[in-house]
Amino acid sequence: KSLKSYNTFGIDVKARFFAEINNEEDLRALRLDPVFKENQLLVLGGGSNMLFTKDFDGLVLKVSIPGIRAARSAEDEDQVLVTAGAGIVWNDLVNYCVEQEFAGMENLSLIPGTVGASPIQNIGAYGVELKDIFESCTAFEIATGEFKIFDFEDCHFAYRDSIFKNDLKGQYLITAVTFRLNTQARINSQYGAIQSVLAERGIRRPTIADISKIVAEIRVSKLPDPSTIGNAGSFFKNPIIGKAEYESIIQTFPDLISYPAGKEKVKLAAGWLIESCGFKGIVDGNTGTWKNQALVLVNHGQATGTEVYSFSEKIIDTVEAKFGVKLEREVNIL
Ligand code: EPU
Repeated sequence: KSLKSYNTFGIDVKARFFAEINNEEDLRALRLDPVFKENQLLVLGGGSNMLFTKDFDGLVLKVSIPGIRAARSAEDEDQVLVTAGAGIVWNDLVNYCVEQEFAGMENLSLIPGTVGASPIQNIGAYGVELKDIFESCTAFEIATGEFKIFDFEDCHFAYRDSIFKNDLKGQYLITAVTFRLNTQARINSQYGAIQSVLAERGIRRPTIADISKIVAEIRVSKLPDPSTIGNAGSFFKNPIIGKAEYESIIQTFPDLISYPAGKEKVKLAAGWLIESCGFKGIVDGNTGTWKNQALVLVNHGQATGTEVYSFSEKIIDTVEAKFGVKLEREVNIL
């Protein structure tokens, strides 16, 4: 089966076997199937953080588990627990919560992908990360067929990282995620780009609907729409380096953009590093970087995964030669 429509990069590769998971029963049934037992598995949500460089000689499980339910928190009457099936499109959940006036997710508007994938890399944008609203998730252990609940502590969240990308990589399939949200809005408008728009429009007391709308507008202006131009959002992580290294780089490059990242560390804007190497908006065969955001690699139509990957190597090497900083990929390479 072609996976072209199952990855936002729009890379045309094939999977040997493919199954869609709509509920927990599907998983139990599947475990008895020889195809499941004998093949390598790949769990796919929205395919929005994935670069396929070759056909997948195994079983792809496309998770489509539906459902959203909300319940008032027993401990705090201003809080609500919202549980969504792993297959729910992330932005549909955000829209539902904004409509219900459940605050906490609005800064994460328009992030591509599904609910089930969201804890894996601790999605984040505009001053909020998934970990800030995460309560727990339910996951199916592939080896045993048992369902396990992971709470906040279990997940080891960090910047674009969790236990599901490390110690437990490939061992669980997330079936549902529960979020702890507030019925009393606490607006997070610290991020510079949000503040500018609020000031421009004279909005002094933004609602969560305002924030959601502004974030969506900023994203649309900066990031390519995967339905027309294949991409997987930021291709690299913003590198975190030591203070001493930072001091030495900024000597040579006083315009360097950075953010504090704990006491001894600094996070650099990878988009700036890449742009400074002359890579913003360039076209390299069928691939390239986005014109408004150098951190985003794009497929101009016919790119293969290998082409995109080689181009990303070129960026890594050039940035390293100029700044001595080695970029790490944020997307999963397969
Ligand atoms: N910048 C440049 N040139 C560029 C791109 C960015 O100079 O080509 C500068 C910007 O001017 C800005 C700074 O770099 O001063 C940061 O740029 P931006 O606000 O666009 O955010 P980012 O650090 O590039 C991160 C996330 C995004 C998230 C935004 C907003 C990572 C890897 N990426 O990007 O997440 O939407 O912040 O919070 O942390 C994703 O992970 O796929 C993603 C899109």
